[in-house]
Amino acid sequence: MAVLEVLAYPNPFLRKRAEAVTVFDEALKGFVADMEETMAAEDGVGLAATQVGRDARLLILDPFAIDGDDGRGKPNLVIINPEVVWASERTVVGEEGCLSFPGVFIQVARPEKVRIRAQDASGEVFELEGEGLGARAILHEIDHLDGVVMIDHVSHLQKRRALKKHERNQKALSKDPG
Ligand code: NI
Repeated sequence: MAVLEVLAYPNPFLRKRAEAVTVFDEALKGFVADMEETMAAEDGVGLAATQVGRDARLLILDPFAIDGDDGRGKPNLVIINPEVVWASERTVVGEEGCLSFPGVFIQVARPEKVRIRAQDASGEVFELEGEGLGARAILHEIDHLDGVVMIDHVSHLQKRRALKKHERNQKALSKDPG
């Protein structure tokens, strides 16, 4: 297993619409294991393949994002070729962060509830519902597979503020040799 490099905005790969996964083999499982190690190392609750430079409609979620404290100790959710089958009309505004914008948090409106259909690492189809943080995490990660990032959902002013903070953070990171 290996910790992969997480691409930071504005890496152009983050704007790519990812291709469907068609082969469910051992190599795919190995890649998922690398993604899990990367998400743990970066202390994230979700990670999309796009963010590690892989052209594949695949994302992982920490079960905490879906089940809260009940999710602790459960395996990560592996979500491949996801499709939104239903989303509530009601939206909620909540704080969002992203490993491609480390240290930046913005308020984003998302549907309160969502239901998706996807495949697991063996290709088995399943459905998953998310509410609150769960819906937010699912939709944030699916966005990545379509080349969409969280700042695309906010006003021009909020976007400018977030990008300024992001640039400052990235500069500080590049000066820090650690
Ligand atoms: Ni993200």
